[in-house]
Amino acid sequence: MANTKSIHGEWSSRFAYILAATGSAVGLGNIWKFPYITGENGGGAFVLVYLGCVLAIGIPIMIAETMMGRRGRQSPINTLSTLSIEAGADKNWHYLGWMGVIAGMLILSYYSVIAGWASAYVIKAFFGGFSSDALEVKAVFDELIASPKQLVFWHTAFMIVTMSVVMRGVNGGLEKAVRFLMPTLFVLLMLLVAYAMTTGEFYFKGISFLFDPDFSEIDGDAVLTAMGHAFFTLGLGMGAIMVYGSYLPSDVSIAKTTLYIAGADTIVALLAGMAIFPLVFANGLEPGSGPGLIFQTLPIAFGSMMGGWLFGVLFFVLLVLAALTSSISLIEPAVAWLVENKGFSRVKASIVSGCGTWLLGICVAFSFNIWSDIKLFDKTIFDLLDYLTANLMLPIGGFCIAVFAGWIMKQKHVEDELSLPEEQFKIWKILVSYVAPISVFLVFLHVLGIF
Ligand code: TRP
Repeated sequence: MANTKSIHGEWSSRFAYILAATGSAVGLGNIWKFPYITGENGGGAFVLVYLGCVLAIGIPIMIAETMMGRRGRQSPINTLSTLSIEAGADKNWHYLGWMGVIAGMLILSYYSVIAGWASAYVIKAFFGGFSSDALEVKAVFDELIASPKQLVFWHTAFMIVTMSVVMRGVNGGLEKAVRFLMPTLFVLLMLLVAYAMTTGEFYFKGISFLFDPDFSEIDGDAVLTAMGHAFFTLGLGMGAIMVYGSYLPSDVSIAKTTLYIAGADTIVALLAGMAIFPLVFANGLEPGSGPGLIFQTLPIAFGSMMGGWLFGVLFFVLLVLAALTSSISLIEPAVAWLVENKGFSRVKASIVSGCGTWLLGICVAFSFNIWSDIKLFDKTIFDLLDYLTANLMLPIGGFCIAVFAGWIMKQKHVEDELSLPEEQFKIWKILVSYVAPISVFLVFLHVLGIF
């Protein structure tokens, strides 16, 4: 018999869960990462592959991961132990939980540095630091990332705030924050898209870059990046959504809520792209200029539009908050495990896992300046961590989750947990047992040059 409640508590309602899980999905991935990797990988075709991956791989695996969490009702590591015992399977499956805990901390180490950039921009926006001149805006960004002191300061500040929220438990203040955050972020993005329409490059360059696919632009690595991003942006493959699922009341429909969350996440990413690319082209900037893309484009809009000061401050505040609601889910699997297995209090568990992540984040901060020459496989520490987690660990984790839900768990238990109409269940079952794992596998083979 599955547990009916987690020892860490439960979401107060279905709506609270949707808010928290949307908060986990929507973050820097949508607004910072999606535009710059789309720019680096040539636009439309990349976007199409990404959307295909969300539909065929991301959504079925998200349903699987949430379902496993709710059935196991513990941290991912212990959930996987419990579920493999229940299914009569090998207990080594719990190593999958371990990979997730580690992936979450690795991601948070650089996520927090980037969230630090966004925090620094709140202050810059507040003191009127934005101009309508693209070169000046770029200089502001270059100055920030060249400063190890500033990056470490903001990274530290962001980690302290994250860990102090995590200490209180995820179903306290978080719910309230997201309730206000999501709608406001949405309105601001619409405003930025409206501003982008006035730049003259909206349809012909901005929108066509984003939505006109040119498949000659992408290769195996681009496909891997698109697939990895589908996992990253939905927050899949490392136990974050499994932990959130473990706090989910039994009577909530997992499939339906997943569709809402994935839909909202995709819309936010596309809006961000529609706001940014027209600005890129109108100001003669390079779409492939890398992780600084939004920091070199959006300030131009705030520097030239009416009321730009207010909108600029608000936008970066919201971006930091969106990052915060995501980073909480990245560290929660580690914290839940320390509480369950080491008997730590939530406070102690948060401090221990937070300090480790913070230290690694300092190396990431240095990789943008004083350590920018330290490279492995031609990648800086930041690039390496990003590649390792988003392109490798998350898809591998997702693959294993799909296999576990599709092939290892007893069909009856899965049906109980999902309680879907028969037709819908069949569709999901085919996607999770065949389509998702085979697609991930083929992409890996392709990158290795075998297929
Ligand atoms: N989805 C978040 C974003 O797009 C990041 C994130 C939160 C995440 N939880 C995760 C990524 C778990 C991978 C795994 O910004």
